[in-house]
Amino acid sequence: MPEALLRVNELRKDFVVGPMFRRKTVQAIRGVSFVLNKGETLGLVGESGCGKSTTGRAAIRLIEPSSGSIEYDGVDLASVGARDMRRLRQDLQIIFQDPYASLDPRMTVEQILTEPLGIQKIGTSAERRERVMDIIAEVGLQAAHAARYPHEFSGGQRQRIGIARSLILNPKMIVADEPVSALDVSVQAQIINLMQDVKAKHGMSYIFISHDLSVVKHICDRVAVMYLGEVVETASRDALYEEPLHPYTKALMSAIPGRRGAQKRITLKGDIPSPASPPRGCAFHTRCPSAMAICKTTPPQAIETGGRKVACHLYN
Ligand SMILES: Nc1ncnc2c1ncn2[C@@H]1O[C@H](COP(=O)(O)OP(=O)(O)OP(=O)(O)O)[C@@H](O)[C@H]1O
Ligand SMILES: [Mg+2]
Repeated sequence: MPEALLRVNELRKDFVVGPMFRRKTVQAIRGVSFVLNKGETLGLVGESGCGKSTTGRAAIRLIEPSSGSIEYDGVDLASVGARDMRRLRQDLQIIFQDPYASLDPRMTVEQILTEPLGIQKIGTSAERRERVMDIIAEVGLQAAHAARYPHEFSGGQRQRIGIARSLILNPKMIVADEPVSALDVSVQAQIINLMQDVKAKHGMSYIFISHDLSVVKHICDRVAVMYLGEVVETASRDALYEEPLHPYTKALMSAIPGRRGAQKRITLKGDIPSPASPPRGCAFHTRCPSAMAICKTTPPQAIETGGRKVACHLYN
């Protein structure tokens, strides 16, 4: 039986946007629930704007959730105070899509990697330096790189720095938010391999956010599919790719280039509705090829079937 590391329950995040008197509330995520097991890689997939980054960030409290609970190591992350959160920050790290934007251009690699150790008051300066040099070697950079600035590196090397920074505190889990989307295809494989290698060595868990279903298939153990701020289906990688259940997952899968099987590509009609006013009932009903009368009025409950979860009236 897999052991849960993180249990996210009914997580919501609203953003209030727009000028005064024309304010509106964007419901970025609307009751997201999932479990991240120890040692696993959980993929979060779905179209742009469906709430993947918000989910990843809120799950480790880089942004404050509006409501919901996040159970980590016996505590509710959503409600711990600042001091406990600082301690827990060691365990919960993130890798961003654009390493250039997330690395301070005025700091050398050594300074970037030493900073978290300083904040957490870990080690003497000699020990910190040793730790930094170890990590630099582990991510495939050279000792001489320690004294250089982010702009002196290629995109792939910069993402290695981003990975090094996420590893420096020996985390239990890492949210990787589109970590290879900004890289050349040839470099993507190197970074994915590096992420696999460090995981094999340290045994942490990943939440891997991506819109590239081929990469997700390669790296993830389980996958949660999101649509308009909700998780519509969760399944093991094999189950999901072999037999997607939710009509939205089916459409996503049918669009993977070079997929096996003769299934026709399902083109979804219409645009993604605004997260400021999601459709009533099942949020997907406006685009769903299988929509029924009930879908327009009643939101489907997520039901468990054969170790997987799906929220769709076809299965209720
Ligand atoms: N800081 C913010 N302020 C206002 N709205 C936000 C903010 N962050 C996200 N949103 C909105 O919340 C919704 C979900 O955004 P999010 O970035 O989580 O989606 P995503 O799935 O990561 O998309 P992408 O694939 O483009 O990265 C979007 O409608 C987005 O515009
Ligand atoms: Mg995103």
